[in-house]
Amino acid sequence: MLDLTGKTAVVTGAGRGIGETIARLLAEQGAAVAVVDINLDPASGVAGTIQSAGGSAVALHCDVSDPQSISRLFDEAEAQLGSVDILVNNAGIGNFKPMPEVTLEDWDRVVDINLRGVHLCCQRAIIPMCERKSGKIINISSMGGQLGGLKVAPDYTAAKAGVIGLTKSYARYGARYGVNVNAVAPGPTATEMVADHFDPSSAPLGRLGTPRDIANAVLFLASSMSDYITGATIDVNGGMLMR
Ligand SMILES: NC(=O)c1ccc[n+]([C@@H]2O[C@H](COP(=O)([O-])OP(=O)(O)OC[C@H]3O[C@@H](n4cnc5c(N)ncnc54)[C@H](O)[C@@H]3O)[C@@H](O)[C@H]2O)c1
Repeated sequence: MLDLTGKTAVVTGAGRGIGETIARLLAEQGAAVAVVDINLDPASGVAGTIQSAGGSAVALHCDVSDPQSISRLFDEAEAQLGSVDILVNNAGIGNFKPMPEVTLEDWDRVVDINLRGVHLCCQRAIIPMCERKSGKIINISSMGGQLGGLKVAPDYTAAKAGVIGLTKSYARYGARYGVNVNAVAPGPTATEMVADHFDPSSAPLGRLGTPRDIANAVLFLASSMSDYITGATIDVNGGMLMR
């Protein structure tokens, strides 16, 4: 039931980190994957190694803070791979500034990428999914959006909390058409984004998350295993937040 053969997936921010691992895992399960990033070179590298391993992938450029870039992305993905069955809104940036130092420019940049970009990608993808009466959208939120800033600024936590509300709205919209929309909320996960910001012993399970931990939850939500789940946020945080 985790098999994604014949499915097309778009994964944003897939040039490195969690997005890269998600793209690789979906491709291993048989999906044709659009590896999307603002930096095309690393995305091309990821797509190339997926192809070398026998999978199907293309690298596509997109800046998710730019509405026109998003529009071009989906036109291109549909032209190259066909209808989009799975959308993973993973692209995001961190901001580790203390609250008093957050500028208006920081706020706009973080919210434009981490929240408005998710909305625009959902809005563009869900209409054709509803027409086909099938589709899975997975939005990457954050434990910071549920708990408040541990070591991250309010722009980031507000945007990630917003992703949870936005996910529920799109879930309600898509539900009558058989389109599932869910979120994954990672705790601190060992990628370049968090680098040395978190102490692994702060998690009850005694370690930081890995990109694979997050990708496993995304695969579950992308597959038919989760057909009766929508509007949910799955916590993948080693027990740091239990609710
Ligand atoms: N690493 C963590 O601890 C953690 C925890 C909770 C949530 N998250 C979320 O998981 C997602 C991935 O995080 P990560 O740690 O892999 O980050 P990362 O910085 O390692 O990778 C993010 C990727 O997104 C791309 N990107 C950045 N801005 C973009 C834009 N405007 N358009 C398109 N692509 C863009 C980057 O080029 C990069 O390849 C993010 O949404 C992040 O907020 C991460």
